[in-house]
Amino acid sequence: MNAHERMRAALTGQPVDRTPVWFMRQAGRYLPEYMEVRSRVSFLELCGDSDLACEVTCQPIDRFGLDAAIVFSDILTIPEAMGCPVEFHPGKGPLLPQPIRSAADIAALSMPDVADVLPIVPETLRKFAAARPDVPILGFAGAPFTLLCYMVEGSGSKNWLSVKQLLFTAPQAAQRLLDMLADMVGDYLKLQLDSGALAVQMFDTWAGILSPEDYRRWALPAAARAMSRVQGGPKLYFTRDSSPFLDVLAETGADAIGLDWRVDIGRARAVLGDMPVQGNMDPVALYAPPAEIRRRVRRILDAAGPVGHVFNLGHGVLPTTPIEGVEAMVAEVKAGPSTPVP
Ligand code: CP3
Repeated sequence: MNAHERMRAALTGQPVDRTPVWFMRQAGRYLPEYMEVRSRVSFLELCGDSDLACEVTCQPIDRFGLDAAIVFSDILTIPEAMGCPVEFHPGKGPLLPQPIRSAADIAALSMPDVADVLPIVPETLRKFAAARPDVPILGFAGAPFTLLCYMVEGSGSKNWLSVKQLLFTAPQAAQRLLDMLADMVGDYLKLQLDSGALAVQMFDTWAGILSPEDYRRWALPAAARAMSRVQGGPKLYFTRDSSPFLDVLAETGADAIGLDWRVDIGRARAVLGDMPVQGNMDPVALYAPPAEIRRRVRRILDAAGPVGHVFNLGHGVLPTTPIEGVEAMVAEVKAGPSTPVP
């Protein structure tokens, strides 16, 4: 099988010759070749230049021979395009200096056509397909709830107090913002499938801050609203803390579910039924000795079974990750199934 066939088969629950592998944040600061590009341009400049974005998208593919690329960009381009500026300062997470806290702030946001205001990712997808026709590429967007988290809090947070205050004290305003974000996210994912992405992934990184009741009330219907606007390829849904919500994740309308590392992948599959899954190696396990990394990869492959699984980390690769750890992980996945597929 080639990488296109392998990825598409895994994401649709069809048999594969071996489990495909890629990983979240695979283009990033743990790669010296990425740091070389970043020494010349800022992160936002990199996200705004499709030639450079294509170059760094290719870096982990060239180095590790992965089965999929993910287009280089960030989830916060959508808030920016709606009129909520985003800054990155070295060594810190994202900063949104004009956070959205009221109905008036929400009313001042705009809903532009994604093709007009977010042309770089579609351009990067087309450039990648021309440069590396042998490798499929994935598109992505932040989920509506996770984007709301950054827009309302103005940065990452431990307790997300402003976010929960908005949900619990101004539910109509919160709902309005989620609806706007869902429509933008859905259209953006659709645009990426139309521009050559094999599949798209929605990152609901922060949905796990919600109780199961609030997840069902806020994050889940917003994700489903976005997903309902997307056709043209498999849709993945990832949340960093999936275990409390396993039984309702199918209601997002996703075709496949990204799992973090705090859930046993065999147990998750038992709950999710036929739904293909992606994950679920602890990113910090890549700091372990190669033999231990291989043991953990093998455990996940065996527990997941050979059908309907895309190997990945349970969250993004960390900036200080040893390259040897990534190499050991990829080599073990590529060694193939423990028992040959009949
Ligand atoms: O996965 C990939 O390789 C594709 C590129 C990608 C990036 N961000 C590049 C990036 C993707 C898919 C994202 C998604 C993203 N961005 C998420 C969802 C996934 C997740 O990690 O939970 C979130 C929450 C963001 C917001 C964001 N952007 C954060 C929290 C940070 C980290 C800040 C830091 O200094 O670590 C970023 C910046 C960012 N996005 C970097 C990269 C490679 C680091 C930028 C740099 O300094 O070079």
